[in-house]
Amino acid sequence: MSELNETVLVTGGAGYIGSHTCVELLQSGRKVIVLDNLSNASKASIEAVEQITQKKLPIIEGDIRDRVALDQVFSKNSISSVLHFAGLKAVGESNEFPLKYYDNNVNGTLNLIESMTAHDCKTLVFSSSATVYGIPEKMPLTEDSDVGAINPYGRTKLLVEEMLKDLYAADPEWRVSLLRYFNPVGAHASGEIGEDPNDIPNNLLPFISQVAVGRLDKLQVFGDDYDTADGTGVRDYIHVVDLARGHLAALDYLEPAPKLGIHNLGTGQGYSVLEAVNAFEQASGRSIPYEVSARRPGDAATSYADPTKAREELNWQAKYDLQKMCEDAWRWQSKHPMGYGS
Ligand code: NAD
Ligand code: UFG
Repeated sequence: MSELNETVLVTGGAGYIGSHTCVELLQSGRKVIVLDNLSNASKASIEAVEQITQKKLPIIEGDIRDRVALDQVFSKNSISSVLHFAGLKAVGESNEFPLKYYDNNVNGTLNLIESMTAHDCKTLVFSSSATVYGIPEKMPLTEDSDVGAINPYGRTKLLVEEMLKDLYAADPEWRVSLLRYFNPVGAHASGEIGEDPNDIPNNLLPFISQVAVGRLDKLQVFGDDYDTADGTGVRDYIHVVDLARGHLAALDYLEPAPKLGIHNLGTGQGYSVLEAVNAFEQASGRSIPYEVSARRPGDAATSYADPTKAREELNWQAKYDLQKMCEDAWRWQSKHPMGYGS
């Protein structure tokens, strides 16, 4: 495979999903360079990836909105493809500061693809999200389900998807993979890299982990009156290592010929908030106190993927179940109670 001799540029590679993907890329024999402005990550993740893989992972501290920095990366290295994770991802913050999100996520991606075009690098894997399905009506979600984001963050993902589709229509030499992630959780089995939210976590699993380790008192369960088996919200949690491997599958899918593909990366299995709490209690041996509070505005009752298209076209499927996700999340959290700052 030609890609093995060339370098993969990973934007946002110091972050949660990017760092796990770097492990898989390095372990597959690829050369990798990270570009990250460290706005939501630290270099400690890069060092941990080097430790796990026993390979070098060069990082350029730079911003995808900086065209000069990008051009330098492409001129100095033979970049065959870009895995594009860099972006902001907090839904609540995107309501408060929408322009920050449009600038980082949309403008940043536009800048990246302009620089790629100028350097004739036309292979891109983009981190999209199940959030593009909005408040969905029918389960499971297929790639043909209606889209319609309900917050600025989601709209930035949809806009970038549309921009990349227009780019491919105008120049079919591009190879573009749009990966719609469901709910990434868990950590590398070593417990040396994992999710390390800056403030109080917005998402369920990191919140539960911090309750288990004693950083937070109790979980608020956002509503128990949904139309689900136990009344709490149902999501398709996917182990971050499975997700990371999906990116290597996407690169292989793009290899033979130019194309644009859209794929859900999920397990196809939904779990409720209370099922996640139970699984985490078992994995950690700790009890997770919780109380039920009001629904969180904008939350869907249920969201899970139909993973068939990814299985058939990417030759990829998730291997790990919720128990393994919780065990690995707990290993990371208990070894590093304060995240990378521990
Ligand atoms: P993360 O915040 O851990 O990683 C993003 C990385 O990008 C960080 O290291 C950050 O420092 C960097 N970054 C941000 N803006 C940048 C910029 N302008 N220039 C250079 N670097 C920049 O987030 P993550 O969970 O690893 O998510 C990765 C991608 O996947 C994001 O695009 C996110 O929107 C998408 N996604 C995440 C989830 C999720 O639940 N974690 C779900 C769906 C999609
Ligand atoms: N939940 C709680 N208490 C919490 C946090 C969450 O009960 O403290 C519940 C939510 O109501 C929901 C479920 O747990 O039912 C999962 O919530 P998350 O915040 O973990 O995940 P979401 O599905 O709401 O959203 C996440 C990301 C989005 C992304 C989406 C799909 O935050 O950015 O997954 O990938 F778009």
